[in-house]
Formats: sequence, C-alpha cells, structure tokens
Amino acid sequence: MNYGRKQIIAGNWKMYKTQPEARDFLIKFLPQLHSDRVWWLDEQKSNHVPDIVICAPFTKLQFLSEILVLAPRNLMIGAQNIHWADEGPFTGEISGQMLNEYNVRYVIVGHSERRHYFCDTDETVRKRVMAAQAHNITPILCIGETKLQRESGVAEDVLTSQLTNALEGIDITNLVIAYEPVWAIGTGDTCHPQEANRMLKHIRSVLNSDRITLLYGGSVKPDNIDELMAQPEIDGVLVGGASLDPNSFARIVNFHLPTPRP
Ligand code: PGA
Repeated sequence: MNYGRKQIIAGNWKMYKTQPEARDFLIKFLPQLHSDRVWWLDEQKSNHVPDIVICAPFTKLQFLSEILVLAPRNLMIGAQNIHWADEGPFTGEISGQMLNEYNVRYVIVGHSERRHYFCDTDETVRKRVMAAQAHNITPILCIGETKLQRESGVAEDVLTSQLTNALEGIDITNLVIAYEPVWAIGTGDTCHPQEANRMLKHIRSVLNSDRITLLYGGSVKPDNIDELMAQPEIDGVLVGGASLDPNSFARIVNFHLPTPRP
C-alpha cells in the first residue's frame, strides 16, 4: 500500500549537455512518453501520473523553463544545488530566488558527489533543504552508505545519522528522500531491488511516515526499472547516466508499460 504517495522519476544530468544536446534530447524523448505518463493542462490532475523531473545544469534552466511551457504539466525542472542565502558573496553558488525565476520545482541536495568533492556536510545539507522549502522547491535529499560502511555492517546507522542530522528542525511534508548507496552510483552495480526496498523501509521507520516519497538511485537502467518500481517502498527513482539518453530515460519513465511505437 503506498498511501497515495507521489511517484517521481527524476533524471540527474549532472555536468552534461550543451543547449543543442538538451534540445535534441527533448525532441527524441517527449514523443516516446506513454499517454498514461503525461498530464496536460486541460486534464484533471491525477496523483497516479508520476512527476518526471529533469535536474539540469544551471545554464539549461532558462531554456527548459521556456520549452517546457509546451510540454506535459508533469514534466518538471529540477536543479542540482541551492545555497541557503538569497544573495551574497558566494562565488559559484545559486540561490532559491534565482531558481524560482525558472520555475524550478525540485532540487537535489546532499548528493554524494557534492558531499565528496565539494565538502557538503550534514549541516550545509540541512541549510540547503531549509532554503529549498522556504522557496517552495521540493528538496530531494540524497543519503547513502559507502561500500566500506556496508561491508562493516553500519549501512543503516549511516542512513539514520545522515537523516537525523540533516533533518533536525525540518518539516518533512515537502521533502523527498533518495536512497543512493555510494557504491551503486555510476558503477553499474545496482543495489538489489529487495535490498533497496529494505533500506527504504528503514528510512521510513526513522522518519515515522508512510506518506513521504522515497526514491532509489544508483545505476538505474531500462533493464532494472520494472523490478525496482515493483517494490512497495520504492516510489520512484533518481537516474544519472541513463537519463542522458532519450530512449533509455523514456523507457524508465514508461516503467511497467508496453514500449510505445518507435
Ligand atoms: P547513476 O547516477 O544512475 O549514473 O548511477 C545516479 C545519481 O548519481 O544520482
């Protein structure tokens, strides 16, 4: 039973795609979306249609905000970072009010690449989550253990600590959590769907909520999406590499559906 939780299929483009490449992607991707996976302006809003989110580099946000006016309503723009201040001397950062200019609806926060290469900590992650919510942007908070932590038997403890530190004082009603085991990101070594389900169950018990949307991320591909989405705790996925290719991302969005016409 999923308690009416929102489903989300999010692509994380990371630092990929020039503008012509993004345009080319959309030209090939949009016609492949199954009619059950799109929701147009004039239709009754349905909770059964997942949000399809493209988390693009900052330089694509304006382009996407212009082009997606003509796209299905459930195709949404996501960003990959947000600073906690509205403005200030923070070279290389971006603020919530800037993201609001481009109709950004989701933002990835605490991705392991940000934690590892750019020194994000649970405390800066917490501040970014708060800033997103203050600007009416849904944070996709990423948590996950390393291979060493898993092998040492502390994976659940790592998730508990990342959650409790990053969510201190945070309202969990406008929040999405993505369980992204670090060892599964970009490696092709997908977490077994039943194991991902078990870890999401743990996250749900820490949050004490049946209503929060939980995603799995880490080497999600067209050939494992159906089994992942069949798990009761998995409400969606955060997809890196496979979201760069229009055919594979379309197949992921169309999970459990027959492949549409070529
Ligand atoms: P991947 O990346 O799908 O390429 O493993 C997932 C992510 O980094 O969010």
